[in-house]
Amino acid sequence: MSAQIIDGNALAKKIRLEIASRTSTLVGKGIKPGLAVLLVGEDPASQVYVRNKVKACEEAGMHSLLERLPTDLSEAALLKRIHELNLDPSIHGILVQLPLPKHLNSHLVIESIAPEKDVDGFHVANAGALMIGAPLFRPCTPYGCMKMLESIDYPIKGARAVIVGASNIVGKPMAMLLLQAGATITICNSKTKDLTAHTKEADILVVATGRPKMITAEMVKPGAVVIDVGINRLDDGKLCGDVDFESVKTVASAITPVPGGVGPMTITMLLLNTLEAAERL
Ligand code: GUN
Repeated sequence: MSAQIIDGNALAKKIRLEIASRTSTLVGKGIKPGLAVLLVGEDPASQVYVRNKVKACEEAGMHSLLERLPTDLSEAALLKRIHELNLDPSIHGILVQLPLPKHLNSHLVIESIAPEKDVDGFHVANAGALMIGAPLFRPCTPYGCMKMLESIDYPIKGARAVIVGASNIVGKPMAMLLLQAGATITICNSKTKDLTAHTKEADILVVATGRPKMITAEMVKPGAVVIDVGINRLDDGKLCGDVDFESVKTVASAITPVPGGVGPMTITMLLLNTLEAAERL
């Protein structure tokens, strides 16, 4: 068996057309959705990510503001800038690219973003709203993964979902979204004993560990749907996921590739969250 490849680029393109059309309707009413992206420091991967986010905004007809701030920026200066953006009526979404330089307290910074502009969905108010099943914003990467499952009409209700990785950005919100959709959830973390015993049970396996190709075919139940959130750069410069794509695609019924899987969907969901923030006005 060779798995169906879930094409994130194609799905993202389709959803971005719908977003561009809704954006144009809103612009016709005098509201141009606006996203502010703050990048503190010089992290090379973050530079690529923020550039892609801003480019996608422009392509969708939205207003975007990219602020590159120095590595040694003080916490007070960053909080002041976020406060100004909270009050700026031309900005509907604020994103502070993570990770931040070590001298900045990420928790404090995220909590300073107005929850109604927190298009990442990382503020505790938004994390809490998601947890009780009433989300204002769904965090972009897990939201994109849900759209990919929807795109193959996967029957999530009653399915066993195993998430490898328990981060606030991916693993935990992914669990909440799958739970809300009726799946039975296991969240594994770096201390999990006998990981394979868990992953082998998964009808839906979501992997977000940052460890290249760690999930191999022997760890996957035949027919499972495998969603690979990882993006790792190998020594030869090539990108790979947290899943060993070549072996796992012979066992799974559907799988997301890296690149061209979850990555383009994450940015698309950021656009959708920004649009919806503007539509709520
Ligand atoms: N760094 C890695 N992923 C993300 C994300 O989804 N949002 C932000 N703000 N930073 C990130």
